[in-house]
Amino acid sequence: MSLQIFPDYSSLSLHVAETIVMHLKQEPESVLCLAAGDTPRLAYTQFVQAVRRERMDISKCTFVGLDEWIGIPPGNEGSCHYFLKNNLFQPLSISPDQVHLFNALTKDVRGECAKMDAVIRDKGGIDFMLVGVGMNGHIGFNEPGVSITHYSHVVDLDETTQSVGQKYFKESTKLLKGITLGLQHLLESRKVIVMASGGKKAGIMQKALEGPVTTAVPASIIRQHPHGFTMLDQDAAALLTTV
Ligand code: F6R
Repeated sequence: MSLQIFPDYSSLSLHVAETIVMHLKQEPESVLCLAAGDTPRLAYTQFVQAVRRERMDISKCTFVGLDEWIGIPPGNEGSCHYFLKNNLFQPLSISPDQVHLFNALTKDVRGECAKMDAVIRDKGGIDFMLVGVGMNGHIGFNEPGVSITHYSHVVDLDETTQSVGQKYFKESTKLLKGITLGLQHLLESRKVIVMASGGKKAGIMQKALEGPVTTAVPASIIRQHPHGFTMLDQDAAALLTTV
């Protein structure tokens, strides 16, 4: 794994955006998995600007969803679906054929997981993954203690995720379960970027990067990835002792 630290959120975001652009220029037919959440928001704005500025053709890539809150409809502003649609798919005029997201309203969650795993398998795996890190160290909704061998699965969200997740919603919302790609997807992806910013992530990033590699801190698994990159701003890196 390689670690890169940037002076602030905007330089970090710009680097992440440029990394996505570079990847798509080299491999336009890629399968991409891009997280929702506050962390990558600015990187996506900069990515959209770059695609427009450089008139890139991104009609050949595929987007697969990382995770979703079970029971939250796609039109709810707190859903991952809504976030990705508004920050990426709509501004980039991505065709619906290019997008495969979890249906969080399904009655058949196991079937939904199997469907997502089959899409990823049929497309030859994920080429590029960009993930954030939860306050409890989660990646996607792979909560502390998750099995490293899981592909898509349904989880009981832990208390931290249930309460921190409220920030995405206009009103208080019950967030009990999530559906997510698994750590096995992350380990099998050809390239993975873990992105974190801000002082509130400093403690968990110290554990993830300097503590034991353990599913108790799912983000620490990035250290086992041969093409894993951790990109932080100075504030998120503030408690690292070995840099
Ligand atoms: C979102 C996701 C989550 C977030 C994480 C950090 O699709 O998978 O794991 O990446 O909770 O959230 P932010 O970026 O809002 O701090």
